[in-house]
Amino acid sequence: MNKTNTSQTSILVTGGAGYIGAHACKALKGAGYLPVTYDNLVYGHPEAVKWGPLEEGDISNRQQLEMVMQTFKPAAVMHFAAYAYVGESAEDPAKYYRNNVAGTLSLLESMRTCGINKIIFSSTCATYGMPEQVPIAENHPQYPINPYGRSKLMIEWILQDFADAYGLKFVSLRYFNAAGADPDAEIGEEHNPETHLIPLALDAALEKSGPIRIFGSDYDTPDGTCIRDYIHVSDLAEAHMLALDYLLTTGESDVFNLGNGHGFSVRQVIEAAATVTGCEIPQVESGRRPGDPPILIGDSTKIQKILGWNPVLNQLETILETAWQWQKKIS
Ligand SMILES: NC(=O)c1ccc[n+]([C@@H]2O[C@H](COP(=O)([O-])OP(=O)(O)OC[C@H]3O[C@@H](n4cnc5c(N)ncnc54)[C@H](O)[C@@H]3O)[C@@H](O)[C@H]2O)c1
Repeated sequence: MNKTNTSQTSILVTGGAGYIGAHACKALKGAGYLPVTYDNLVYGHPEAVKWGPLEEGDISNRQQLEMVMQTFKPAAVMHFAAYAYVGESAEDPAKYYRNNVAGTLSLLESMRTCGINKIIFSSTCATYGMPEQVPIAENHPQYPINPYGRSKLMIEWILQDFADAYGLKFVSLRYFNAAGADPDAEIGEEHNPETHLIPLALDAALEKSGPIRIFGSDYDTPDGTCIRDYIHVSDLAEAHMLALDYLLTTGESDVFNLGNGHGFSVRQVIEAAATVTGCEIPQVESGRRPGDPPILIGDSTKIQKILGWNPVLNQLETILETAWQWQKKIS
């Protein structure tokens, strides 16, 4: 756990009203920090901001950002704010480059103005594109195949350039599939629209939606459906705490994968969801989605070795069980 003396230290959390950001805020509070959420609420939920103040604003608004930074004097920034719908990014790339890339540039310039030089960035396995081999380690070539992945890779490059030129210290965390919910069910996943398999399967179980669609059943995988690496959102939040401690104590910039190193097919997840919920999950098969790699599994050995990350909620059943408690609560 966190070793730094954290009393009264505030951390600016962009996108803290969103799914992963809210779980990071809970972890920050638990470690004695004050999480200051900065979110424009375009997708965020104000009721998810429970562990510190909510400052409503857009990361492109430098004047407001700098006012918040001057007020709270955060020791570092956790940067979750972004758009993250792959399909939409192909239809409207300008929206993604403006919010994700230009928005992050605005954030970084405000940080420079206010003398804040530490940032933890939410990157993604989508920066790798079609994997040449799995599991994917950090040194795998990065050839993203959609504007969302490219926007995140551009930010990784900008962070490196700012580190070289201006002494910025960063940790980029390349998440695989975030899933599950706070084990106390205080917060959970509530995207609108929802595109993630687990909440969609649970919605189908609760009959809140029609049958779940399986996109492609003819992949070169054991059951023909895509295989993904699911990581519990609280384990993800814990990794942010370790990354923060690392930045505050050693100040070294680095990049880490965050996955569990195990893949589950779409059919396996739906079957496990049926077991956990005790409900039948109606499903229909439809065609492949363009740009979906058959298998994405992360090699997270580096973060385990260097930061001592040790996921504890890494069983698929645990991920599903916590997500199920949350879905029932919000139904
Ligand atoms: N969910 C996943 O599986 C996953 C995987 C890889 C990477 N990521 C990345 O993790 C981050 C968080 O993802 P999430 O699932 O929690 O998404 P989310 O949509 O739940 O949260 C994002 C938050 O950012 C806010 N936001 C967006 N643009 C903003 C802006 N311009 N100014 C201020 N606030 C803004 C939204 O209102 C929302 O509350 C994103 O950067 C995403 O790309 C997520």
